[in-house]
Amino acid sequence: MEKNDNEIKDSLPKKSLLVLYSYHHQNTEQIAKVFSEVLDAEIKTPQQINPEELQEYDLVGFGSGIYSAKHDESLLELADDLPEVNNKNAFLFSTAGITGESKKTKDHRTLREKLESKGYNIIDEFQCKGFNTNSFLRLFGGMNKGRPNAKDLKNAEKFAVKIT
Ligand SMILES: Cc1cc2nc3c(=O)[nH]c(=O)nc-3n(C[C@H](O)[C@H](O)[C@H](O)COP(=O)(O)O)c2cc1C
Repeated sequence: MEKNDNEIKDSLPKKSLLVLYSYHHQNTEQIAKVFSEVLDAEIKTPQQINPEELQEYDLVGFGSGIYSAKHDESLLELADDLPEVNNKNAFLFSTAGITGESKKTKDHRTLREKLESKGYNIIDEFQCKGFNTNSFLRLFGGMNKGRPNAKDLKNAEKFAVKIT
């Protein structure tokens, strides 16, 4: 029996991309590397992205550390520059000093709303703790030393498996 267009599309491997900004302690980069393995996805910085090229992907993950209660400005600016898409799947991720379900929802809000306004369908969101030596915390050896830890990376792996 002949396959229809949707069946052919579903049987092709999904093409995924990760857009990452991670500078403080490369905490979010550790998470992105796990996603990259599971999703077989390339990792690019917002600066390396040509907004039009995102159209080529079935799934795009956007992530950074949380800086002043938001994703990095370079991701927010990229979201502003993206062309409108028709219901394309995306997911958000971050590492932060302080975490939790409602904190994640708040920290991700700015990027989520920008992407949703462009037609992206946010299928899931991941956050875990990251080592933080910002400002005065440096004087006390920082908070969340050793995070992300092995359990965080395992949770990242489970998350990526779940969304594929
Ligand atoms: C300038 C700056 C601002 C930060 N602001 C917040 C914040 O508002 N909320 C929070 O939970 N963590 C905050 N953090 C902690 C970072 O989100 C955390 O260390 C994160 O893991 C850094 O990710 P990265 O190593 O990928 O850059 C801040 C860190 C820096 C350096």
